[in-house]
Amino acid sequence: MTDIFDFGTGVDRYAVIGNPIAHSKSPRIHTLFARQTGQKLEYTAIQVDTGGFAQAVGNFQASGGKGLNITVPFKEEAWAYVDKRSERAELAGAVNTIKFEKAHILGDNTDGVGLVDDLRQNCEVNLKNKNILLMGAGGAARGVIAPLLEHKPAKLTIANRTVDKAVALANIFKAYGQVEGCGYEDLDARYDIVINATAASLGGDLPPLPPACITTKTFCYDMMYSAQATVFMKWAAAHDVLKYSDGLGMLVGQAAESFYLWRGIRPDVKSVIAQLRQELAA
Ligand code: ATR
Repeated sequence: MTDIFDFGTGVDRYAVIGNPIAHSKSPRIHTLFARQTGQKLEYTAIQVDTGGFAQAVGNFQASGGKGLNITVPFKEEAWAYVDKRSERAELAGAVNTIKFEKAHILGDNTDGVGLVDDLRQNCEVNLKNKNILLMGAGGAARGVIAPLLEHKPAKLTIANRTVDKAVALANIFKAYGQVEGCGYEDLDARYDIVINATAASLGGDLPPLPPACITTKTFCYDMMYSAQATVFMKWAAAHDVLKYSDGLGMLVGQAAESFYLWRGIRPDVKSVIAQLRQELAA
């Protein structure tokens, strides 16, 4: 953690705000991006207590900070805080990136594009005309729906334990493509792509996905990541799916999009994913 009143370093300053924040990979990722692209910047982590978000953002801006990443549990508060939003942030109902512009505080959401880029570029999974199952109907799921629909899947099904939340979420995005919400017990199709956006992996649990929904051609993606395979990845491997991945590439992808918004340069993500993978394993 650094002092947020640290004036006068002469270097553009960015930070990630969240709670907890000590284990955030964002400072490492942005430092690697800066090194790779020859950009001079400083990126730190700021832990903020409940009720202290607006003050912390105000202090950071007043001290000359250029932009922020926002993580759990402040993404919705950040959405309400900014005075201008990108369309994808508006739809996501959450902001993970703030850019302090001359006349505005711009809120963006780069999580969805981080996922889609990882799926398409790193995992080499095509989304067009595919049958996609998204598990979970919380903030993590909401942020990726519009970016997934942009790539014209045949259908996006949102499954959730609390069925009403899945149905309500699908209704919000009806105008953007083929999307429906249901419970796990209602699932009767086979899916090309299954994405785990639930918080189940955090507690070492599995969402109740019927094995009949997957085949040996299914690609499984867990938006969580860890040094070892997540429970969902182990489940996917045990069920002999085509391929599976954790969400480390999504994390680096959303960071790359934030970096682009702030600096106008797109860093190469593959080398940074490889570096982080090595560091996670060490
Ligand atoms: P986030 O912002 O990470 O999405 P959230 O808004 O609390 O967090 O949402 C958590 C999601 O994970 C919800 O969809 C939740 O399902 P419910 O709405 O039915 O609670 C889902 N979830 C959490 N633990 C789960 C578990 N063990 N099995 C299945 N779904 C789970």
